[in-house]
Amino acid sequence: MKYFITGGSGLLGERLATVSKENDELTLVHNSNPTENSVKCDITNEEEVKKIVSKENPDVIIHCAAMTNVDLCEDEIDLAYKINGDGTGYLAKAAEENDAKIIYVSTDFVFDGNLGYYKEDEKVNPLGIYAKSKYDGEVQLQKYSSNWAIARVSVLYGWHKRANFTTWVIDQLRQKNEINIVTDQINSPTLADNAAEAMFEIARQDKNGIFHTAGNDAINRYDFTRKIADAFDLDDSLINPTTSEKFVQKAPRPRDSSLNVNKVEKELGMKMETCSESLKRMADTE
Ligand SMILES: NC(=O)c1ccc[n+]([C@@H]2O[C@H](COP(=O)([O-])OP(=O)(O)OC[C@H]3O[C@@H](n4cnc5c(N)ncnc54)[C@H](OP(=O)(O)O)[C@@H]3O)[C@@H](O)[C@H]2O)c1
Repeated sequence: MKYFITGGSGLLGERLATVSKENDELTLVHNSNPTENSVKCDITNEEEVKKIVSKENPDVIIHCAAMTNVDLCEDEIDLAYKINGDGTGYLAKAAEENDAKIIYVSTDFVFDGNLGYYKEDEKVNPLGIYAKSKYDGEVQLQKYSSNWAIARVSVLYGWHKRANFTTWVIDQLRQKNEINIVTDQINSPTLADNAAEAMFEIARQDKNGIFHTAGNDAINRYDFTRKIADAFDLDDSLINPTTSEKFVQKAPRPRDSSLNVNKVEKELGMKMETCSESLKRMADTE
């Protein structure tokens, strides 16, 4: 199968390449950070998207590219919608014109977090600009493509050249720095490798619809951080509990946007890992 992977220079894109099978043919796409053999495509340029997708002629597009800095999206509203919303629409149109399936990577932040442990068919209510623009991507995807899937993930982590929450915690604790972590934000932290495996299953089994390809826990950020310390044998007394009220962030965060992964496990016949399992896997591959 031939895959066109946007966000190929990002965390998830790189882990998709790592867990792909030998006979998978991959085109990794970057915008400003080229990687080995990656192809440049700015997804906000409709003509460029059209041209490159048609030239590469993939069976499946896995669309990971996004403006992922949640707080920056609050300042750069037009750009957030252009990349996360319109860029997804352009790729969906290009997929349709080339008879390709498109899998769009979305987020637990489409939910407002009042309920928690969300199933795929539950009502969305995105709070901030990042969340709203990613949801706009979900809407544009369904408008322009007839062969789509949405794979929602939550607090992605894994080894990558740029820091993510988990690698930041490991770095801070190794440097013996104290860190303040909120106890009142609950998610389903997702090892990028495990989410990538689920996305390839969606492609291989030719599934359509929404899937929560996330970690198999509902855990608050403070407890998750303690698990990171435990998995990497680091000093957890450096982790101070705090609350969202004291630790002010620009964009609103859902209180509990944890995701129920039962559908993925049942329909795809694969296991989504708990964070203890995933952190062990990460520690074993350092
Ligand atoms: N990170 C999380 O905690 C999290 C949580 C929930 C959902 N998600 C979703 O998961 C997906 C993957 O996230 P990630 O953490 O792997 O992302 P990431 O590491 O932040 O990488 C973002 C990627 O998007 C690309 N990109 C940005 N603007 C672009 C543009 N105009 N044209 C083409 N490419 C562009 C970047 O390319 P260059 O670097 O080459 O410019 C980069 O490859 C995203 O859709 C995100 O919304 C992430």
